[in-house]
Amino acid sequence: MGRVLRQAARRRSEFREQDESVAAPGVTPPARSDLSAAARGAPMFDLNLPRPEGREFAFTDHDFQQIARMIYEHAGISLSASKQEMVYSRLARRLRVRGLQRFDDYLELLAGGDEAEWEAFTNSLTTNLTAFFREPHHFPILAEHALARAGDHRLELWCAACSTGEEPYSMAMTMVETFGTYSPPVHIVATDLDTQVLAKAREGVYALERVERMQPERLRQFFQRGTGSRAGMVRVRPELQQLITFSQVNLLHRAWPVRGPFDAIFCRNVMIYFDKKTQRGILERFVPLLREEGLLFAGHSESFQHAADLFRPRGKTVYEVTRAGGRHG
Ligand SMILES: C[S@@+](CC[C@H](N)C(=O)[O-])C[C@H]1O[C@@H](n2cnc3c(N)ncnc32)[C@H](O)[C@@H]1O
Repeated sequence: MGRVLRQAARRRSEFREQDESVAAPGVTPPARSDLSAAARGAPMFDLNLPRPEGREFAFTDHDFQQIARMIYEHAGISLSASKQEMVYSRLARRLRVRGLQRFDDYLELLAGGDEAEWEAFTNSLTTNLTAFFREPHHFPILAEHALARAGDHRLELWCAACSTGEEPYSMAMTMVETFGTYSPPVHIVATDLDTQVLAKAREGVYALERVERMQPERLRQFFQRGTGSRAGMVRVRPELQQLITFSQVNLLHRAWPVRGPFDAIFCRNVMIYFDKKTQRGILERFVPLLREEGLLFAGHSESFQHAADLFRPRGKTVYEVTRAGGRHG
């Protein structure tokens, strides 16, 4: 216990309040798109390329199909044939860790129900790309919505695929700024399927490059700078962390351990991995979890036109429940 406390104290002492030097002018944000080719829907690999020779492990089309079926059934993630190389390289690591020689043996391990391996398998196959204030036009809409809704109840927000935490922390920063206090009348539930990204999200420690594009004022207000062994890192302030509860939720599972009703649900850039049928099932379950006039925020390439009876657009990739959809009062 004493050692744990000492470690925690050391970690605390390795983060200092921000000063402007962290976001010094002249630090150029990396000139990269926040969207990978995969997320834009472009094939990552040319299907006509010859199969790489000399792979460490034999990996057949059949193996790939089995894996695609298993992750689809477990997490709803649809893997097209173009993802074969990605799947090989991500799972080859698991074979090495488990000391296996063949994908066959690995699949047998999963078929036997090895829970730890199922978790690692799932974590390996999710794509966790995210960023602070990604799709920034959503945050002023959230701010305005929160101000209009606050008053009679504490606002409940759900971030339904929070990845490594940048998204719920951006929501929390927006709420602190909107209400002008570190204790806004807001609670954020942040969930993801992937346990590894959830651990990172809870920790709230990021490489400096992740926040280089952030306004210096925000950076100073919401982050502490790492020193010593944490140099080059920043940590979100504990006040922000206190607004958020992180937990694991598989959007495909029957039971979601979230209660609602929510004033807003952020479900961004995860539906693109699901087919229309799976998307529809999830949207149907969002409806009763949203309060009247509650908002659903989607990713830039996600359109719910196929569920127009449930949700209608309320702005760019923002939706509200239709009258026919019904929801909580
Ligand atoms: C590309 S990230 C999007 C992160 C964030 N919402 C954003 O827009 O920046 C997709 C996230 O969805 C999560 N995910 C994938 N399948 C899921 C499922 N069945 N249930 C819950 N989360 C899932 C992944 O683990 C990943 O962290």
